[in-house]
Amino acid sequence: MPLPGLQKLEQRIGRQIRLLEARKNIIERKIERQIRLFENTRDGIGRKIEEQIRQFERKKGIRLDDEVRFIRSWMERPLSIGAVTPSGKILARAMARYVDPNSDGPVVELGPGTGPVTEALVEAGVSPSRLVLVEFNPTFCRILHSRYPDATLVQGDAYSLRRLLATLLLQPAAAVVSGLPLVTKPIRQRLRLIRDAFDLMVPGAPFVQFTYSVAAPLPKRLGGFSVEASERIWMNLPPARVWVYRRPG
Ligand SMILES: C[S@@+](CC[C@H](N)C(=O)[O-])C[C@H]1O[C@@H](n2cnc3c(N)ncnc32)[C@H](O)[C@@H]1O
Repeated sequence: MPLPGLQKLEQRIGRQIRLLEARKNIIERKIERQIRLFENTRDGIGRKIEEQIRQFERKKGIRLDDEVRFIRSWMERPLSIGAVTPSGKILARAMARYVDPNSDGPVVELGPGTGPVTEALVEAGVSPSRLVLVEFNPTFCRILHSRYPDATLVQGDAYSLRRLLATLLLQPAAAVVSGLPLVTKPIRQRLRLIRDAFDLMVPGAPFVQFTYSVAAPLPKRLGGFSVEASERIWMNLPPARVWVYRRPG
């Protein structure tokens, strides 16, 4: 192509690029506006919920600090937290019942949050020094550390269980109790987690998981493990069921 033709082509391409960049900037500004709008609405709803909780506290003369912290964390990362409030006592006790307090070895809790299940485990006779708590939310970790100073606290991703605990556990675990929102993860990741958990436990030890969903968090046919489930626990918000998985020796 002769030189003037090439120059014209170059100018045309330059114009198109500038046009595209201008459009891109407009779209980016629109998206930013939408995000700010969403964040303002979300913060507004969060403040309203908090204010209502505080009013309720004043009326009843009680403190609901854990609920407030939970809601704040849920607003920031709804999928990772997986619940708007901590588990109630009845659900927490139902989970703890599957752990034998007289067994040997550590009891691992995944996603303890503000610690309602931890409390039920201790109430049921599990010594806090046997507890290994794996939680990735820093606010929850601070709460857990102040409430259970004798427990081993691991701030990290429970889905990297093998890496986190392989050198930390000095003997096989007696149970793994999980409050993770497991059903938000792909099935392969869930299966990897439970297999890693079984590798860290004594044969036949329970992997205890609660879920709000109707379906089992891990389908039996996929795993090579036994499954049992509790009745649906209606006295929890939302109602939940406890599932227990074991890999025979
Ligand atoms: C549904 S809440 C349950 C909290 C508590 N066990 C209860 O029953 O109230 C899920 C918890 O798992 C934690 N979590 C979610 N994903 C996690 C991960 N990959 N590693 C560690 N903790 C996680 C969240 O921060 C939250 O504390």
